[in-house]
Amino acid sequence: MSDKTNKITLNGQEVPFEEGDTILELAEKHGVSIPTLCHDPRLKPAGACRTCLVEIDGWRRMAPSCATQATDGMNITTESPRIDRHRKTLLALYLTDHPKDHSDCETGAPCELHDMATAVEAPTDWPHMEPVRAGRPNDANRFIQFLEDKCILCARCTRYCDEVEAVSAISLAQRGAHTTISTVDERSLLDSSCEMCGGCIDVCPTGAMTEKMPLVANDAPERQLSKVRTTCNYCGVGCQMDLNVTPANGKPAHVVKVTSPPPGTTTNDGNLCVKGRFAYDFIHHEDRLKTPLVRGDDGLLHEATWEEALRVAAAGLRKVQAEHGSDSLGFVSSSRCTVEENYLVQKLSRAVFGTNNVHQCAAT
Ligand code: SF4
Ligand code: SF4
Ligand code: FES
Repeated sequence: MSDKTNKITLNGQEVPFEEGDTILELAEKHGVSIPTLCHDPRLKPAGACRTCLVEIDGWRRMAPSCATQATDGMNITTESPRIDRHRKTLLALYLTDHPKDHSDCETGAPCELHDMATAVEAPTDWPHMEPVRAGRPNDANRFIQFLEDKCILCARCTRYCDEVEAVSAISLAQRGAHTTISTVDERSLLDSSCEMCGGCIDVCPTGAMTEKMPLVANDAPERQLSKVRTTCNYCGVGCQMDLNVTPANGKPAHVVKVTSPPPGTTTNDGNLCVKGRFAYDFIHHEDRLKTPLVRGDDGLLHEATWEEALRVAAAGLRKVQAEHGSDSLGFVSSSRCTVEENYLVQKLSRAVFGTNNVHQCAAT
């Protein structure tokens, strides 16, 4: 009979684990926080950044908790003077070839690296080195830019592109101090397999992958944007998304960016597509239709009430049916409609107008 207990000791407390649990997952389950930069629960562990190191009794070296599985009887310490010294040194080293002026971190996406360095009081006055990999020309695409000097090579973006999007448009390239993120042959993302999902922006902990679209009408640091949870209306999948809205500041609130809720919290698991993430400028567009339009006898479109517009549409459909028969009509509904709305459209088509000519482009 096996005398395995499937228990480990975590900071002096005995806790159960399941086969395959990493130390990081186990710590999270038991409310113990371990800092991470390269970890993403959707990705295979890479153990690249070394911020999550913990001490394990009997192990000479500290181990990356994100990439080390719990095994029976392990005695793990997540906070100690040795770990603290290691984190301070590591983060100070990361900062040595990071841009010295990080004021744009206050207006761009919050930088997890700087936040963590501040939290652990890492030295910030170590001699600064110009990163050798900085200065690649800006990519021609409209949505995504890569700021090489901010990159810490955690490979979250490349692993996301490969493991979640299954696109592999970007990967680590070059060697040593010249290592960077690149497409094949350093081509533009437009000439690669990139689908412009923007997931690489979402996962980047330093703002090295970032949006190109300006935060229009935004006088406030990005940290002051509030998030309004909504459902994407581009297709029938129903992804949850957060509209990032400027504070009132005496001006009308403005949507300046779209992000996805964190992985594991909604059905889209932290992912969005190009439409959901970037196609939001219609919201405040001056040409956006806000009332129905009905063509008048003068041949021009005029604003109308919903009642009037529905009356005109119904009369037009009835007229075609009377003159040419039911099958001269066809009903196509939008992929933005819900299943219930599509059900009503097919009822209208079949029960009211007597035709099976009905389609919906998302085929829900
Ligand atoms: S936008 Fe999406 S597909 Fe393109 S490189 Fe980034 S993660 Fe890959
Ligand atoms: S661009 Fe960001 S996510 Fe990608 S490797 Fe660099 S720091 Fe990591
Ligand atoms: S989070 Fe574990 S090594 Fe980066």
